[in-house]
Amino acid sequence: MRLRAIRPPVWALSGATVVVALVSATVVVTLLSGAATTTAGATEATHSNLTERESGVGSGLRHRGRASGVKIGTAAQPAAMAENGAYQAVLSQEFDSVTSESQMKWDIVEPARGAYDWTSSEALVRFAEANGQIVRGHTLVWHDALPGWVANGTFSPEQLRDLLREHIQTVVGRYKGRVAAWDVINEPIADTGGKLRPSLWMTALGPGYIADALRWAHEADPGAKLYINDYGVEAVNAKSDALYNVVRGLRRDGVPVDGVGFQSHLALSTNLTTLDANLRRFADLGLDIAITEMDVRLPLPATPAQHVAQAGLYTRVLQACLAVARCVSYTVWGFTDRYSWVPYAYPGWGDACLFDATYQPKPAYQQLRQLLVDSPRR
Ligand code: XIL
Repeated sequence: MRLRAIRPPVWALSGATVVVALVSATVVVTLLSGAATTTAGATEATHSNLTERESGVGSGLRHRGRASGVKIGTAAQPAAMAENGAYQAVLSQEFDSVTSESQMKWDIVEPARGAYDWTSSEALVRFAEANGQIVRGHTLVWHDALPGWVANGTFSPEQLRDLLREHIQTVVGRYKGRVAAWDVINEPIADTGGKLRPSLWMTALGPGYIADALRWAHEADPGAKLYINDYGVEAVNAKSDALYNVVRGLRRDGVPVDGVGFQSHLALSTNLTTLDANLRRFADLGLDIAITEMDVRLPLPATPAQHVAQAGLYTRVLQACLAVARCVSYTVWGFTDRYSWVPYAYPGWGDACLFDATYQPKPAYQQLRQLLVDSPRR
């Protein structure tokens, strides 16, 4: 069962905080070799001490994972980037890839028709560029995070099609050459019945909206990798079968789709027995595979045993990615419980990230790090 995502008010964006993020990003770059504690206070010291104790700066997941060939990524929140240096330090030290958790959603970039606001997306992209990270752009076509003028508009199907094309071409075009991969289509499959989700887009435009959106994105940036991204499709099941049939049809028709994103919002009860076979069948279609939104929620308060089990799931999914040559990236949906979406979307649950709210690493972080060291792939 899916719970609706609720935008947490706690780090609601303001123009002022984004400016701070940009300034602070530069600070992190210049201070990274060992002196990050000077900017950020106690919580940052926690992470710096960890890396120093274990093997010095440069020991983060992004460095440990280099030989694996898999990009290690995280979603990032703009206002969290602005709040303190600890967040920025971990973000830049640990990850190769940054996904816009909210910064590139329609309601943020085009809150009013034709009035684009790039403040938040620009802050994220600049931070990534300053820190040698790639950007995963998230997301262009989704049933959620639509501004009121789209969700409640009274547009004809033709008008909606034009709006969608213009939106995709404007956003992808703006970041041409700067966003490595786009989640073009997000959550297109219904939870039951093996059908396409009856979203605004599906209802107005029919199933062809998927191919159209991919083609428009490809025209706007032929170099970007274009993904379809969904949740609950990690194992072989009715939903992943439906997704498989959709992408197989797109490949057959020559539609520019490069990859499939497996969100991987997991609980300890998630059955992953068929994960490897599932990833393999998608890769066998000639597609890249990405783990795009990994987290493992725990019922609160969580026990030490649950943290160990959580580490098992985080590493299990990375192992499956490492085992498939086409699996190109492994992204967590936020790295600290301080800013995780989980408690808002799943009341009573949380503790889902690699680091706790004070940036203390959990067993999941330690085990992922170990696995990356042990597993050079190519
Ligand atoms: C979530 C963000 O994490 C929240 O901050 C926001 O309030 C709602 O959206 N699947 C997705 C993501 O594809 O875009 C969602 O992100 C989480 C579920």
